[in-house]
Amino acid sequence: MASAGKTFIVEHLDEELGPWSELEYLAIAAESEETNSKFILSCLPPNFQVPPALSASKAFTAEHRGVEELYAGQKSRVCLLDPAAAKDLAPEDGETFDAFLFGGILGDDPPRDRTSELRKKGFEGRRLGPKQMTTDTAVRVTRIVVQDKIVSLDQVPYLDFPELKFNDHESTQMPFRYVTGADGKPIMPKGMVELIQKDADKSVDDLF
Ligand SMILES: C[S@@+](CC[C@H](N)C(=O)[O-])C[C@H]1O[C@@H](n2cnc3c(N)ncnc32)[C@H](O)[C@@H]1O
Repeated sequence: MASAGKTFIVEHLDEELGPWSELEYLAIAAESEETNSKFILSCLPPNFQVPPALSASKAFTAEHRGVEELYAGQKSRVCLLDPAAAKDLAPEDGETFDAFLFGGILGDDPPRDRTSELRKKGFEGRRLGPKQMTTDTAVRVTRIVVQDKIVSLDQVPYLDFPELKFNDHESTQMPFRYVTGADGKPIMPKGMVELIQKDADKSVDDLF
């Protein structure tokens, strides 16, 4: 049986909202609504424009305050998902923590450890295995382990570094770990494959 809905906090660490992050946040909002959990996008700069599709989600809250202020006095109930943590996330962490904190950062290759900006705040950390995930994937895996409690971390179906094939001549390899769906394909936010292809075409055009 699924345990009580958790709160997933993404502390937005970039000044602006790029199109990749927007699609990731929309995916987190949609899945949070479907699974009775909450999604807080925190630390938003004063002039941040929340996309209407995100505000429309019942699970979503936009917050200008940072996680330290939001959870003042309840710090021990917040778990930071941290690629450098000593311990991996386990289903029992669903009993210890109410809120799970993620860096609102785009993945980079090689990883630049920007999660360290949140580590400094002193929340207890858990790792999601050794491979870098996109923020929406990290939230998805955390929810599967601590809320759905169907499987432990190592039983989640993954695909590492999938190749996206656009046509006979164009493909790109994603340097991240993804959860796979029932069709065996990596789960990605709606519109992400098209955005990746558009960005790939743009970088080729920029060469000429
Ligand atoms: C795209 S990742 C950013 C990783 C990035 N390269 C960095 O500079 O830290 C965004 C967020 O997802 C979570 N995350 C991704 N992979 C993870 C892993 N293997 N273990 C724990 N958390 C992870 C972290 O909260 C991280 O801040």
